Amino acid sequence: MNIGIDKIGFYTPDQYVDMEKLAEKRGVEPAKYTIGIGQERMAVAPLHEDAVSMAANAALSILDDDDREKIDFVLFGSESGVDHSKSGAVWVHHLTDIQENARSIELKQACYGATAGLKMAMGHVALNPDSKALVLGSDIAKYGLNTPGEPTQGAGAVAMVISSNPRLMALDNDSAAMTKDISDFWRPLYSDYAFVDGKFSNESYLSFLKEVWEKYKEKTDRELNDFEAICFHLPYTKMAKKALLSLTENAPEEDAERLMGHYQNSITYNKQVGNVYTGSLYLSMLSLLEQSEELPEGSRIGLFSYGSGAVGEFFSGVIQPGYKAYLNKDTHESLLNSRQELSLDEYEELLEKSLPKDGSDIETNSEKMNKGKAYLTAIQDNIRKYEVK
Ligand code: CAA
Repeated sequence: MNIGIDKIGFYTPDQYVDMEKLAEKRGVEPAKYTIGIGQERMAVAPLHEDAVSMAANAALSILDDDDREKIDFVLFGSESGVDHSKSGAVWVHHLTDIQENARSIELKQACYGATAGLKMAMGHVALNPDSKALVLGSDIAKYGLNTPGEPTQGAGAVAMVISSNPRLMALDNDSAAMTKDISDFWRPLYSDYAFVDGKFSNESYLSFLKEVWEKYKEKTDRELNDFEAICFHLPYTKMAKKALLSLTENAPEEDAERLMGHYQNSITYNKQVGNVYTGSLYLSMLSLLEQSEELPEGSRIGLFSYGSGAVGEFFSGVIQPGYKAYLNKDTHESLLNSRQELSLDEYEELLEKSLPKDGSDIETNSEKMNKGKAYLTAIQDNIRKYEVK
């Protein structure tokens, strides 16, 4: 029985910062951000959007009545969670009107959280072939103003329905994972901003890729020529180029050319959004599926997930016949193209704003409403209130 990704939805707030303008303000050559880092625009979340509302919006864009009836497991991967106790999945379950007899949980391991969800969902569907699972990856990436990480911020969510006989991608069950206790990137409970050892995080990402790729090859006997394309966790799009170059260093020219040929399509969306942590790999996969005109049905795609701290995994899936009919390219392009540009003053003011941390009530300013349906309306008596409009 094939198990895998039946549907994939994406959401990002409808405001962004232009990377060339940000570079100029920081006194940096614009090409450093647009070419050296590889980002053109960076999504910024307003206060009435958080990891929960963005995930709900991504899910609302794909769920139909059959999904709502059959989903009995909601797995919410995030490193921007809004409560130490209650999972974001419980709110999303409610906001998306999924039937009640379901399990709803949150998973955390930096940017690896959604992949953990995907793997658990596969196991669940293998045991319960008539069930479906909803896997979410939703985050706001914040490093702070004037930091090296600033051009690699972003905000957004991906939602995936996992089922048997999936219409987009059947996932192979022979991946290779690795865990090592390192401090390359982390966010202590008291901090709104991530801490990062930038260069070390890049090196760790690449060394995890090397090790899990070797292990994957050993387990599966597959080589680069078995892959039509490879998608990577994308903290910024240049990272995938570094990753591809490291994998294809000694590869036959035709493999290197084919894989590099798909690279542009696999970064189109991420270039416009920035890092969305748990959702980044899946946003890249969505970008590849929707933007590529030459991705044969039945071809195998490699996927590399990396969550600092750190856990890495290399896995793969096979593109299903007729997959193009189940994508929403126009919706995603219009979501990205119809956003409003923030001035740098607006961006700087917003980035430093946060919801009250002293338990006082607040109504969020939802007048400047976005295209999403779900949003945070208020915090009252320490309870977060969400609505779907
Ligand atoms: N034109 C073109 N390119 C230029 C340029 C110019 N004028 N000026 C500089 N560049 C290039 C540099 O040569 C460099 O390219 P290479 O990496 O290929 O050498 C690139 O621009 C970046 O320049 P620096 O290395 O000098 O940049 P930096 O030190 O200011 O910061 C960073 C880069 C370390 C990625 C920083 O943005 C950061 O800390 N980001 C957050 C951490 C991160 O994203 N880590 C990724 C791995 S960890 C992970 O994947 C998990 C996660 O999601 C966080």
